[in-house]
Amino acid sequence: MFENSVVIAGPASLELARRISQNLNVKIIEPELKIFSDGESKLRIPVVKNKHCIIVQSLYPPPDRHIIQLLMLIHKCNKDHASKITLVIPYMAYARQDKAFLEGEIISIEVLARSIENFGADEVITVDIHKEVSLSYFSIKIKNVTAIPLLADYIKNKASLEKSFIISPDAGGIKRAEKFAQLLGLPTLCLEKKRDRKTGYVSINENIGMEVGGMNAILIDDMISTGGSIVKACEVLKKQKIGNITVLCTHAILVNNAFERIISSGVKEIISTNSIPSICSKVDLSLTLSNMLVNANKSD
Ligand code: R5P
Repeated sequence: MFENSVVIAGPASLELARRISQNLNVKIIEPELKIFSDGESKLRIPVVKNKHCIIVQSLYPPPDRHIIQLLMLIHKCNKDHASKITLVIPYMAYARQDKAFLEGEIISIEVLARSIENFGADEVITVDIHKEVSLSYFSIKIKNVTAIPLLADYIKNKASLEKSFIISPDAGGIKRAEKFAQLLGLPTLCLEKKRDRKTGYVSINENIGMEVGGMNAILIDDMISTGGSIVKACEVLKKQKIGNITVLCTHAILVNNAFERIISSGVKEIISTNSIPSICSKVDLSLTLSNMLVNANKSD
């Protein structure tokens, strides 16, 4: 099925690419990479003429560097006349700007989608993109797989879920939280988060509308970036004399000292997938992504 394929490990996702190539039993290319002192990247790979190229590159920080590396790899495959170019982008950067919230704002996910297509990619597989609306900016095939069942399995096998309930930090994440709660047979609570579009300041309504004293909270989000949303949620929950707080997310971006801030706000553990390499990466996506690649290949 993948006889004429090759996995190309983007510099951001070496480990994940190695696992996918092992699962699919496909040869891997690990590009030669040089980062110059001004921050520019240089990449070198062998000729991939007539190959189905599967490029694995997650777009976590620094996103712009990882994007240009991805575009360089697509460009090279295209120039070499690859037979097909499939992108595995576990974390899709720029998906939070999926519309102009304030007049004049540029829809960055649209720019990214257009660039990927224009460089010659044929299809994309991504994981828990911030909102499904982003998929509509791609005119090539794009599949968005969810890591929610994997995260639910992990927590089910690891911890006692007695007296626990699932929390979404904001209304945008409620469907995700409900799906997760359903898999675990637990109740859901949605916090009311507001973010000032100009300053970025986050606030959460302290009136949560439920008695939670002594219960354990499991917060679920698609991503943790600065940790601001989770820290605010913890402040509100602690005031309600909550028991343990555990946090799960698909993408642990964790910029600056987000991990330390979240742990010092009273969180017992942060669990994420390995879409982004971090100390929280406890749930492996490689098998799910490999299965997606098998299915995509079958439907050709
Ligand atoms: C927002 O809608 C997202 O789902 C996350 O809640 C948010 O991006 C997390 O960002 P931060 O960790 O910076 O609060």
